[in-house]
Amino acid sequence: MNIAPNPSMTKAARSVKKSKRVEVDIATTKPGTPGGVFMRQFWICAHRSEDLPAGRARPIRIMSENFTLYRGASGKAHCIDAQCPHRLAMMHLGWVEGDDIRCVYHGWKFDGSGRCVEQPAEEAGFARKVRIGTWPCEEYLGMIWVYLGEGAPPQFPPFPHRATPGIIQTWNVEHVPCNYLQSFENSMDEVHVAFTHAPGGSHANLSRDLPVIAAREEDWGLMRFGTRKTGKVRQSLHYAPNVTRVIVPPVAGMENVGGWPEIYFSFTPVDDENHIWYITSHIEAQGEAIEAYRRQHAKYSKELAEARTSVAYAKELMAGQHYYADVRHPDLAIVQDIAVQAGQGRVADRQHEHLGRSDAGLIAWRRILTRELKLIAAGKKPKKWKPPPADVVPTLGF
Ligand code: FES
Ligand SMILES: [Fe+2]
Repeated sequence: MNIAPNPSMTKAARSVKKSKRVEVDIATTKPGTPGGVFMRQFWICAHRSEDLPAGRARPIRIMSENFTLYRGASGKAHCIDAQCPHRLAMMHLGWVEGDDIRCVYHGWKFDGSGRCVEQPAEEAGFARKVRIGTWPCEEYLGMIWVYLGEGAPPQFPPFPHRATPGIIQTWNVEHVPCNYLQSFENSMDEVHVAFTHAPGGSHANLSRDLPVIAAREEDWGLMRFGTRKTGKVRQSLHYAPNVTRVIVPPVAGMENVGGWPEIYFSFTPVDDENHIWYITSHIEAQGEAIEAYRRQHAKYSKELAEARTSVAYAKELMAGQHYYADVRHPDLAIVQDIAVQAGQGRVADRQHEHLGRSDAGLIAWRRILTRELKLIAAGKKPKKWKPPPADVVPTLGF
């Protein structure tokens, strides 16, 4: 097919024709953008459960919007507006009282449903005219999830986890200085493993030969296949819009306790130039093996607490302060991934890439994302995503 521009078309006519094309920004999740509307159809991982004790409130920022997260005395987590509706004080500075929260500025108190239940210096009757915004908030896999879209939220939990006996273990929370889509795409890029993670040898079993990558759209997201020379297939799941479920090598020191964990990896946008990694793993273990795992994990956690943060180390790598192959760290693979993904730029300039066949996974996801964002931009109905089935699981593939 001849795709050269029609020579009889004037420059002006060409520019008019071009302006009719719907261009969408697949990286942004700002409110009101097609990307922001797309993402807000789903539950989004917002915080690690263990980092929010009862009686405490925290500020959180998700998809360029600020909120307050607090945990009431009952143990229930609540997500409300960042600012008080009186004169906009930050709500996380306030006091949690039972399952209510009181503003630090003039003492207005709100219950978990957003009703104003006390206004110490105001006349009776005013309180019932005031509300603070609230969002559905639930917990699953050691994480707090919020729904920031319109209308009723979709089914919770948003995806299943492995039902076999084991340990549910949350990982360090990583604040990564780049757009979330770079990391979500990296999770679809199995070929990087043989190169990015070569130093340290943690991924040697996945690096003996390079897989041929294929991907298939599902009702719930994307299924990715990496086929090795042996014919074995490594199957990984990408739940829309930003969760990857995959089997990965254990972190340093954990090789002999629990085998390879299955992880549920959420890439939560903070704004368009920052995102957070929330990871939970499921480790197959029973009886004595659980204790052995916990002992070893306590050792690993101590080493991790004493080390510089993965992000700090990755930034130094990006700045050329270390030689990549020399890096040693308890979370080496995480340091390596952050350096490579954040090193693509705060928001990767995808126009200047040269994609190949090994990029089949992320190419498939970009096609889906572009299609959905164009539908939203045109005011048409986007895809009706379905709850993921429990019997579709990742496989190791070697
Ligand atoms: S600003 Fe919150 S009570 Fe006044
Ligand atoms: Fe990686």
